[in-house]
Parts: sequence; C-alpha cells; structure tokens
Amino acid sequence: MDFNVKTTKDLSSIRSDCFVIPLCEGKTLKGCATQLDKTLQTLIKNLQKNGDFTGKCASTLLLHLPPESQVKRALLIGIGKTEKSGLSVSDYRKIVQNLLIALQKTPAKEAVLLFEDIQVTDRDSYWQYQQLAMLAIDQSYKYTKTKTEQKEKTQRLAKLSMIRTGSQQSAPLKKALSIGSAIGLGMNTAKQLGNLPGNICTPSYLASQARALAKQHPSLHTKVLEEKQMKDLGMGALLSVTAGTEQPAKLIIMEYKGGGKSDNPYVLVGKGITFDSGGISLKPGPKMDEMKYDMCGAASVMGCMTTITELKPKINVTAIIASAENLPSGKATKPGDIVTSMAGKTIEVLNTDAEGRLVLCDALSYAERYKPKAVIDIATLTGACVVALGKHATAVYSNRDDLAAQLLNAGETSYDRAWHMPLWEEYQKQLDSNFADIANVGGPEGGSITAACFLSRFADSYPWAHLDIAGTAWLSGAQKGATGRPVALLAHYLLERAKSS
Ligand code: BES
Ligand code: MN
Ligand code: ZN
Repeated sequence: MDFNVKTTKDLSSIRSDCFVIPLCEGKTLKGCATQLDKTLQTLIKNLQKNGDFTGKCASTLLLHLPPESQVKRALLIGIGKTEKSGLSVSDYRKIVQNLLIALQKTPAKEAVLLFEDIQVTDRDSYWQYQQLAMLAIDQSYKYTKTKTEQKEKTQRLAKLSMIRTGSQQSAPLKKALSIGSAIGLGMNTAKQLGNLPGNICTPSYLASQARALAKQHPSLHTKVLEEKQMKDLGMGALLSVTAGTEQPAKLIIMEYKGGGKSDNPYVLVGKGITFDSGGISLKPGPKMDEMKYDMCGAASVMGCMTTITELKPKINVTAIIASAENLPSGKATKPGDIVTSMAGKTIEVLNTDAEGRLVLCDALSYAERYKPKAVIDIATLTGACVVALGKHATAVYSNRDDLAAQLLNAGETSYDRAWHMPLWEEYQKQLDSNFADIANVGGPEGGSITAACFLSRFADSYPWAHLDIAGTAWLSGAQKGATGRPVALLAHYLLERAKSS
C-alpha cells in the first residue's frame, strides 16, 4: 500500500475513488471539508438532520456519489463529541481502524482522507500519520497461506492520500507515513510467522526465513548455528529442550550494520519454540494448538529486523533467535534432570514445560560476545503473565531502570504498551534447588516474575530487559491469531536510540 501527502488549496481539482470525511457529533463540516461541493454538503447536512448519521465516534456511512462527480464515493466517519484538547489515542485508533474496515468493503483502490483538522490529545500530526500508516498496513494483512479458497483475493485498496490545505511542510509527514508503514510491514512479518502451523514453521523454517531476509538486504547478515556447534559452546540448557524432537534446533543470528564499524550493537533475543507441548510435563489438551505461537518472541525479532532493514537507522542491531520444538519422547529431558548451561551454571529441570527460559539463558550467554549496549529478550514466557496483565500490556523486567523507562516510553509512543514489573531479590529465593545451582521453576507464586529472575541470573554482565509477551502476542477466540506485538515497541525503542547516538 502506498501513502501520500497531497497539498492543495482546491479540493475540487481532485479525482478519487473515495473521500473520507470526518464529522463531529452535532456539528457541521469543518476545515477543508467546507470546500466540498455544495450538493454534497447539503446531502451530509440532511443526513445529520434526519438522524441517518449522527457522527458517533468511529461510526461510518458510505455514500455513492452521482456518476458525473469526480469523486465516486464519500465515506463519512464519526469522530464523536470532540473535546477541545482533541481525541483520545484509543478513539483515534478506533476511528482509523473502522474507516479502513469500511474502505476495504468497497471496490475503492485509493482514497483521500480529509483529516487535516483532526486533533489528538498530546499527539501531533506526525504521530497521527505514523499510526495511520501502521494501522493501514496492519489491517491489510490476511492469513491465506493454508486456505485453498481465499488465495486469489488480493488487497484492492492500494493508496491512501492525506490532504493538506495549510502551509505545513509535507516532508516530515511523508517520513511519518513511511515509518508507520515499515512498522506495519514488520508486524505483518511477525503475524505471518506466528500464524503458520508448527508443521510448517519449524526451527529450520525460521532459519530459512532469516536467510531470505538477509539475501534481500545487503546491510543484514545471517548465520545459523547447528546443534553440533551449540554442543561445542556448552549450550546444555538449550539442547535439553530439543532432546525429545526430530526437528533440529537452530540458533539464528542476524546482524544489521547501520552504525559505525566499532559501535557496539543493541541485541534482541527471541524465544523461538515452534511448538510447546510441555514435553514430559505435558500440557493439557484443550487449546494446546495455541502453543504454535510460542515462537512469537522470535517472530517479533524477525519483524523488527524487517522494519529496521526498511528504515536503515544508523545503529547496529544483532538478533539472536533460540529456536527448538518442545516434545515428549524416549529421548526427552525428564523432570529432575540436571543440565549444565553455557554459563556453567547447573539447572535442575523440575518442569520440562518451563522450557523458554532454558533456551533463552544460553542465548543470553551467547549475547555477551557482542559486548552489547543493551540486550532485550522477547518471549511468550509464562501463563502467569497473562493472569497478571491480560492481553493489553507486555510485562517489562530490567536490571537497569533507565532501560526499562526507555522501553515503557517506546510502548506509550507506539501505543504498543508495556508495564514495569519487579525483579526484587526476595523473589530470587524461589529458584533455590537442593541439587543444582538453580531450579527452572519457582513455584506457583509470581510465575512471570520468577521466570524473569531466572533469566536475570544469565544477564548480569550487560544492561538487560525481558519482555514477557504471553498475553500480548496473540488473541484467542473468534479473532484467534498473532497480533504482531511488540514490533512497534521494539522499532520505536531502536529508532530513538539511533537518534540519540
Ligand atoms: N509457552 C509457555 C507460556 C504460555 C502459556 C504462554 C500459556 C501463553 C499462554 C511456557 O513455556 C510455559 O509453559 N510456561 C509454564 C511455566 C511453568 C511450568 C512454571 C506456564 O506458564 O505454565
Ligand atoms: Mn512451556
Ligand atoms: Zn513455552
């Protein structure tokens, strides 16, 4: 989909498949919409007067205009009773989402948005344009890969133009659209990988996708470590997870070099369990299919790298994806088994279903060699996180408060929000083991926190943060599917770092 900023003083010169016209509750047209031709304005007034369109927030009404008109359709979009300070962020997003849904139901290939006068509380038009482009790309995604009927259907809506009549520079707004669009693209990459079934999206498949991305972009390098190399590195924790499956585990490393040669990188570490049955500590049957999403941390890292290669910020970013399948078999790791991690710490595997932290701890040790500016791991780590925060907020843990603040901030800006959780040492005791240096589970209390405590033991040599995305990475029920979160948060975090470096 293409985005464009059109500066014009004269709306009547524009041909379009559809004008998108915002309308306040109980108010007449304002701003550039007052330039619309008189017949259309009268029509809209009558619709309001007769109660056919009230302007209720995010409601839509499609009008088909007469054949002689240069504009084929008009989509009215309600923006509610707007306060002086402007719309709330969530109302603005609802408005954009609903207008996109309505547009996609029409045969319009392009549309022109008369959004110049929309105000959002504490957010400028740059932010509005970025969100709009991101949401448009996000919403254009449709899963078709394993459906036979829907494959042919292509996206009709190919272009959105934003009208400006004022003298504001359009270059920054165009830039905002391209950033939003690149983030949307990254989110769609993450959604597609998340939605693919476990029999297609295996660790080898993730490795092939990482190689394919590097082939398209010269600034990106991919290397894949095989089990033999992991064994030589002493990654006993990661390898204990893959012991029960036929699928070979992969440690996928992607290096993006946009900064100086000697600049230390920001490192993203993704949990890539392509199916989590729980292993010998087998999960219950209902909803077990959803454990194909257990690689959404890895998918968000791949998505973020996609965004980064599009936008080419001046920093270095290294992605490390620890990918394996967690299945039971005669060769699988058993509860009570003790394994040795790459860091040399012994781990008592009390529950083979707490496998995410086992693959991540070795990846975190591997990250040390990059002398990272910061390491952020992203993982669908615990069911307890879903209980604590539900599906709206990602949990943030960090051994540095400034890093946590930067991530929370990136989440606010992109509206891909996160919440700061405690990593207090009192929780660490729950991981004590009678037989090893550390146990892989900390009991039923504070499960997301003790999982983060486990990881923290392997991340003390650099600034580190952990994002538990078990609640935010996918939706259940009728809307079942991956969400593409937290690509927007990660991308914003990295783009900010590129600005300040
Ligand atoms: N992948 C799961 C976490 C998960 C569960 C994410 C449900 C989303 C929804 C993880 O590997 C896991 O199984 N964690 C266990 C940890 C427990 C054994 C300490 C859990 O949360 O039950
Ligand atoms: Mn598990
Ligand atoms: Zn898991």
